[in-house]
Amino acid sequence: MKISLEGKTAVITGAAKGIGRSIAEKLADSGAAVGIIDFDKTTGLKAQEELKEKGYSCVFAAADVSNYESMVQAKEELVKAFGRIDILIINAGVSRKHTIAEIDAAEWDRVLAINLSGSFYTVKAFYDCFEGKTSEDEGRIIFITSGSGITGTGGGAHYAASKSGQHGLMRTVSKEFGKNGVNVNAIAPRVIVTELFDTLYPTEVSKEKLVSQIPIGRFGYPEDIANLACFLAAPVSSYIHGQIILMDGGRTY
Ligand SMILES: NC(=O)c1ccc[n+]([C@@H]2O[C@H](COP(=O)([O-])OP(=O)(O)OC[C@H]3O[C@@H](n4cnc5c(N)ncnc54)[C@H](O)[C@@H]3O)[C@@H](O)[C@H]2O)c1
Repeated sequence: MKISLEGKTAVITGAAKGIGRSIAEKLADSGAAVGIIDFDKTTGLKAQEELKEKGYSCVFAAADVSNYESMVQAKEELVKAFGRIDILIINAGVSRKHTIAEIDAAEWDRVLAINLSGSFYTVKAFYDCFEGKTSEDEGRIIFITSGSGITGTGGGAHYAASKSGQHGLMRTVSKEFGKNGVNVNAIAPRVIVTELFDTLYPTEVSKEKLVSQIPIGRFGYPEDIANLACFLAAPVSSYIHGQIILMDGGRTY
């Protein structure tokens, strides 16, 4: 199925690299103009240049999702650049594979600040881009959460708690925005090969053990998540709403 997002504008947080970068490229390749937000300015600008070199319309805005004011500023920059925002991908996130004994209060607060408060600040900063939409506009908000929010494994307690929290937030946003023709869903990945994944499973032994638990026999790639994000961003997905879609190669159930 050929998906066209011509005329749409998408914003993706945490899109300097990894899953977010791949989603930005996929949506751009399907015709959307893309705004990428990241707190890593050097890598964010590099991603912007690479996407522009491929002929895509791309604007980078530096912001830390855990800082509400910086998210409001990023939103203003992107609305100024594009005029409107149709698709919002809430992707920025961090993980630490620590036990409860190893997690101190500061680390707990930081992971929750980025993964959960950062998701709320992103929704709130972009709220006015979506509140006036109608079913004709086909608005979309997609959270990139994690299988950890369902199983409780894969990162530390702070990570799993923040990802479960995102699921509650997503469902509330879906209730509020559904009547505006804005579909809201979550993609919950597990073991997708990125830098974050490498920090969680740094050794070959840990990777081999993990892959043996995946029925389809391989890890996921950022493109796997980008393909689903693109489908959920398109008009063809308009009856999928308020759902958590697990992408784990069949590992969990
Ligand atoms: N890779 C996996 O196996 C996996 C599995 C489940 C869920 N996820 C989720 O997917 C999302 C992306 O993960 P990834 O694997 O691509 O990670 P990654 O570390 O490769 O990329 C994350 C990006 O987010 C940015 N970022 C981090 N904190 C930020 C902040 N405070 N403000 C703005 N930008 C920030 C980073 O600079 C980076 O560009 C995360 O929410 C993660 O929890 C990943």
